[in-house]
Amino acid sequence: MRTLRPDEHRAAADLFRSTLHAVPTTDETWPITERALQPGRTLGAFDTELIGTARSFDAEITLPGGARAGVAAVTGVGVRPDRTRRGILTELMRAQLTDIAGRGLPFAALRASEGVIYNRFGYGVTTRSRSYRIDRRRAVLRPDVPSGGQVELWSLDTALERLPELYASLPHTRPGMMTRPPYWWPGWERHAREATSPIVTAVHHGTNGPDGYAIYTVERKHWNDPAVLEVLSLQTGTDEAFNGLWRYLLGVDLVDTLRADERPVDEPVELLFTDLRAVKDTGGGDELWLRLVDVPTALGAREYSGEPVVLEVVDPVLEDNSGRYEVSPEGVRRTDATADVRLGVDALAMVYLGAWRPSLLAAAGRIQPADPGAVERADRLFATPVPAWCGTHF
Ligand SMILES: CC(C)(COP(=O)(O)OP(=O)(O)OC[C@H]1O[C@@H](n2cnc3c(N)ncnc32)[C@H](O)[C@@H]1OP(=O)(O)O)[C@@H](O)C(=O)NCCC(=O)NCCS
Repeated sequence: MRTLRPDEHRAAADLFRSTLHAVPTTDETWPITERALQPGRTLGAFDTELIGTARSFDAEITLPGGARAGVAAVTGVGVRPDRTRRGILTELMRAQLTDIAGRGLPFAALRASEGVIYNRFGYGVTTRSRSYRIDRRRAVLRPDVPSGGQVELWSLDTALERLPELYASLPHTRPGMMTRPPYWWPGWERHAREATSPIVTAVHHGTNGPDGYAIYTVERKHWNDPAVLEVLSLQTGTDEAFNGLWRYLLGVDLVDTLRADERPVDEPVELLFTDLRAVKDTGGGDELWLRLVDVPTALGAREYSGEPVVLEVVDPVLEDNSGRYEVSPEGVRRTDATADVRLGVDALAMVYLGAWRPSLLAAAGRIQPADPGAVERADRLFATPVPAWCGTHF
């Protein structure tokens, strides 16, 4: 197990792609993929040759209260199918978490291909999302929906040049939102350049300039088949941008259905329509998985409400994290006091951004409160006014 040299990165990228049943990079796509790799952050596992890999890049995540903290965005995780279930991922995860801790990053985060893989390494579901479909014929805007500003289309090249700055200028209104460093954008570029239907970037101009954008594609198999407009990304900094972009999207011609996935659980899209049943929820689920790598720093970085609670955290992988912490709106400190709530570091991640109430985890046996009063205090402590959402895929 070691950090790969740059000349080994393409083999690692192709190994990862093969574990997702995707074709290898090509000489055209490799230069784009290569730009997504932060130097020194790709791990490889070997027997006689490369059999497993995992990588990460640095970003920042928004926490309850609005502070931002460093997070290692973990991706590119795969083990060759003829070498699975013999502990290779376990070794990779241990090595990677030790490396991330050594870099002083309080968090790691990932998107999970399957729900059973990452709890054992201390990751927990920390944001959830919603998918919905809009029947365009029923989606008549209410007369009181504000009109919004001007919407302008950007070509792919303009979008690639200007979206990083626009995204960075938008406020992070929800816990879980992440910055998009230069290592993030090449993944989007490759997706956009490889897409079989045109990818359109629509930018909303508010009173102070660009303040939101929607990226979408329209799928229509045959010229007279029903067409679906898929919203690939929607990032808005103002209500005006949200209203203006939806007004625009609903006005795109030759579209029967609009589809949006991985949206915030409370996105108020149905409030725009005379018939709120124009919007149908079609699913949802786990979005971002978070790992508190440095538990005391991570606990101290967010805001809380209510009274103090003593947590006993159990971390079987990064054992220095295990111990008791008194957590309150005044701050966080290690303590020898009796624990109010005992929980694994993965369950801590599930309550940390407010995705799950501690009492729900207690009811399911995932955390152990000393008494019912303790779990009620823990509910108040971790409550967040706005549901967490990440909105950045990696
Ligand atoms: C997921 C993957 C990386 C796991 O690698 P691995 O080397 O087989 O994992 P390990 O052998 O270290 O497994 C550790 C434990 O997790 C369990 N586990 C790992 N992956 C699992 C899966 N997909 N389904 C069920 N259990 C799984 C193992 O059974 C093992 O349990 P045990 O300790 O009780 O025996 C590998 O299966 C893979 O490459 N999958 C396809 C690509 C993918 O999904 N990558 C993740 C992208 S987020």
